[in-house]
Amino acid sequence: MRTRPLKVALLGCGVVGSEVARIMTTQADDLAARIGAPVELAGIAVRRPGRVRAGVPADLLTTDATALVKRGDLDVVVEVIGGIEPVRTLITTAFEHGASVVSANKALLAADGAALHAKAAEHGVDLYYEAAVAGAIPLLRPLRESLAGDRVNRVLGIVNGTTNFILDRMDGTGAGYSEALDEATALGYAEADPTADVEGFDAAAKAAILAGIAFHTRVTIDDVHREGLTEVTAADIASARKMGCTVKLLAICERTPDGRSVTARVHPAMIPLSHPLASVREAYNAVFVEAEAAGRLMFYGPGAGGAPTASAVLGDLVAACRNKLAGVTGAGESAYTQLPVSPMGDVVTRYHISLDVADKPGVLAQVATVFAEHDVSIDTVRQQSRIQGGDETAVEQAGPRREGGEASLVVVTHRAPDAALSATVGSLRKLDTVRGVASIMRVEGE
Ligand code: HSE
Repeated sequence: MRTRPLKVALLGCGVVGSEVARIMTTQADDLAARIGAPVELAGIAVRRPGRVRAGVPADLLTTDATALVKRGDLDVVVEVIGGIEPVRTLITTAFEHGASVVSANKALLAADGAALHAKAAEHGVDLYYEAAVAGAIPLLRPLRESLAGDRVNRVLGIVNGTTNFILDRMDGTGAGYSEALDEATALGYAEADPTADVEGFDAAAKAAILAGIAFHTRVTIDDVHREGLTEVTAADIASARKMGCTVKLLAICERTPDGRSVTARVHPAMIPLSHPLASVREAYNAVFVEAEAAGRLMFYGPGAGGAPTASAVLGDLVAACRNKLAGVTGAGESAYTQLPVSPMGDVVTRYHISLDVADKPGVLAQVATVFAEHDVSIDTVRQQSRIQGGDETAVEQAGPRREGGEASLVVVTHRAPDAALSATVGSLRKLDTVRGVASIMRVEGE
């Protein structure tokens, strides 16, 4: 084994960074044996050096991150600060000074991954970011390396733990969105400002990274159609249950059927209870990968948290250190297919639509006509009459009809382009007999 240590700098020492520092110290001998040389923590850039960090050597702390990455003797820089700037500049500077970079920064990679990969290649160093998507779950390396000989057609996953916790609580207890969010906040799953999670930005960044790697093309967060879960109601969850489904916030990346483009989207969707993703509880993550030769693969585990995220960071650190020692770099960006990203309107999916309608003759036919006019085929229709004290009553059992009453009509469509489904809903809203569109949700995973 080489005795001269490889030098590593850490940018950020919060929940993840302090775990990285701790494991680097406590597992130093094992890491050295696995890499073939000792690894030395050369410096840690923090904003507040006075803060006590158990197990983190105080003499390594500095507030000057720029000077740290410019040292010139670093082998690897580990970035766990997050956000776009100043991190982009720090990472670029690290490359320019010969260091490989391990990052957990999904926002930066989803916004500017191509430029960063190009910069790393220009300087003959590595850029790894396994921790950026689904925490501890080994996912990017399997997609990039283990499946490099296969053709991935679809990636479908739960990649945000906070929102999965909220939806799991809504499903399990009948709670509304706000109540479930309050519980997630109290338990530390949701941040004080939960916008990035509940509006789907976090999942959209992860979807962009997954789509780019899976389909060997470039996808940025701006290419990802995004809908959060703030509009999901307890009634939606109850409706899903009646269909034998549950609601999950899904990240879905697909090749289009003609193979000429890809799509990437994040939105709440109903999935059948029989689908493996339906059983992903609390704040866990899981990702389904469908590849031509491999078939269906599922990756499951903790998607957040200090130690789980540090596990992914350290895996990358070992890989980057091994490459440094061997004088090589690992696989860089693979974007040779140059497949364009199609808009959401081209995605073929199914809708579950719940309408409040006038309960009088001809309304069902009128509604069905609107679907037909947009070339959208109806799979099932269920009517819940409100003239019998609010109890659900099947159409044929509705009993004596009271003219002027109201009913809920639940329509589930066959697969159709999202643009056609959305236009159908637009036309339905214009019908006098449709008093309101109570909910619209896509149905996936069948
Ligand atoms: N906020 C993320 C989540 C974890 O709830 O899954 C970091 O990506």
